[in-house]
Amino acid sequence: MTESKLAIHGGEKYRTKPWPSVGNASGRMFGQEEIQLLTEVIQSGSLNRVGGTKVPQLEAEFAAKYGTKHAVAATSGTAALHVAVGALNLEPGDEVITTTVTDMGTVIAILMCNLVPIFADVDPRTGNVTAETIAKQISPKTKAIIAVHLFGQMCDMDPIRALAREKGFWLIEDCAQAHLSEYKGHLAGTIGDIGCFSFQQSKQMTTGDGGMIITNNDQLAYRARLFADKGWPRGTGERGHLFLGPNYRLTELQGAVGLAQLHKLDEIVARRRHTAEMLAEMLDDIPGIRPPYLVPGTNPSWWIFSFTIEEKVLGVSPQDFAAALQAEGMPFHVGYIPNPIFDYPVIKERKTFGTSGIPWTLPQARQGITYEDKDYPGTMQFLSTTFVTSWNEGMTEEDVRDIAGGVAKVANYYLKNK
Ligand SMILES: Cc1ncc(COP(=O)(O)O)c(C=O)c1O
Repeated sequence: MTESKLAIHGGEKYRTKPWPSVGNASGRMFGQEEIQLLTEVIQSGSLNRVGGTKVPQLEAEFAAKYGTKHAVAATSGTAALHVAVGALNLEPGDEVITTTVTDMGTVIAILMCNLVPIFADVDPRTGNVTAETIAKQISPKTKAIIAVHLFGQMCDMDPIRALAREKGFWLIEDCAQAHLSEYKGHLAGTIGDIGCFSFQQSKQMTTGDGGMIITNNDQLAYRARLFADKGWPRGTGERGHLFLGPNYRLTELQGAVGLAQLHKLDEIVARRRHTAEMLAEMLDDIPGIRPPYLVPGTNPSWWIFSFTIEEKVLGVSPQDFAAALQAEGMPFHVGYIPNPIFDYPVIKERKTFGTSGIPWTLPQARQGITYEDKDYPGTMQFLSTTFVTSWNEGMTEEDVRDIAGGVAKVANYYLKNK
């Protein structure tokens, strides 16, 4: 390409056409299948999963897809995580180790069970926790780990699972962003004790909002099913609320859409992989641009596409590079969340239950726990250097060529003008 003036300096904008988006039909695969199943639900007159057929069918087919014994639906990814942690039945003040880079839903599930979240640093190349960073956070109170497969890129699970087994910790996989991601031939969610998924609008499959847990553990599945339904042992004929649990029942309307989406999931993920892999290859050819790093043996399902730049080669900061990209109409920004997840008021200022500061202030909790940015160098590096854009199945090869062209335009400019 010829060296053209950057849009940020008043030059012509590289791309003016809008990008396909997960926020609307341009980046989603909805069609007659969803409409047909929704129609069946409406015509049945049964919108509630109790007595309905679609949610039970979704659970059965989801479990079959992942090859697990059980699947339990919930109303969101956050709810699914709450169900998973609730199923463990831990004692208030116990600790759960998770990541600094995630959606708050991961941490909400921990806090709602009166458990103390402990944060492991991330590998700055992936944004994911590792066995080493988790090991540094273990205390006598540790009972469980929630490993988040960020952007659909898998954590390096063998060492994490080995650590969990050695120490006797439960291992939950947060696969909210990782539907059908693979690690050494295993699907995300089938490696730990429980896998949790989100069906929120932007996820690889969606019901607007919704979620699912999968497990091979009969007891966890039993508790999870009751936990998501007010502790109610359906099928026994008794109305016994056996323990505390919310109502996280998915509706039949969501079950219908979920089924149709599950049937398309292979194609959705294949499309995301095709375009994302093409983009990664094209970016690899641009001096100063580093395509996303993948843990060997993993096959992501691309919830987000990310890359980094070599600042010394290009002579520009990630923030300035991002501003130039945005001016060209490229949909990237730096950092997935602006700060580590513990910097939000709910955690930093302990805004949980009234002014109690529970769970941190529980007498049985370990005292003096603090979360400081300076203790998380991998996180700070990842969040300040990683370019991200939401990915979707509507992305075409032409879109990919445009992205690569736009990134090349900006990179070439800085290369020549540093
Ligand atoms: C990693 C992760 N965990 C949990 C959640 C929570 O899911 P939901 O928004 O469906 O409650 C999300 C949603 O974005 C997520 O990305």
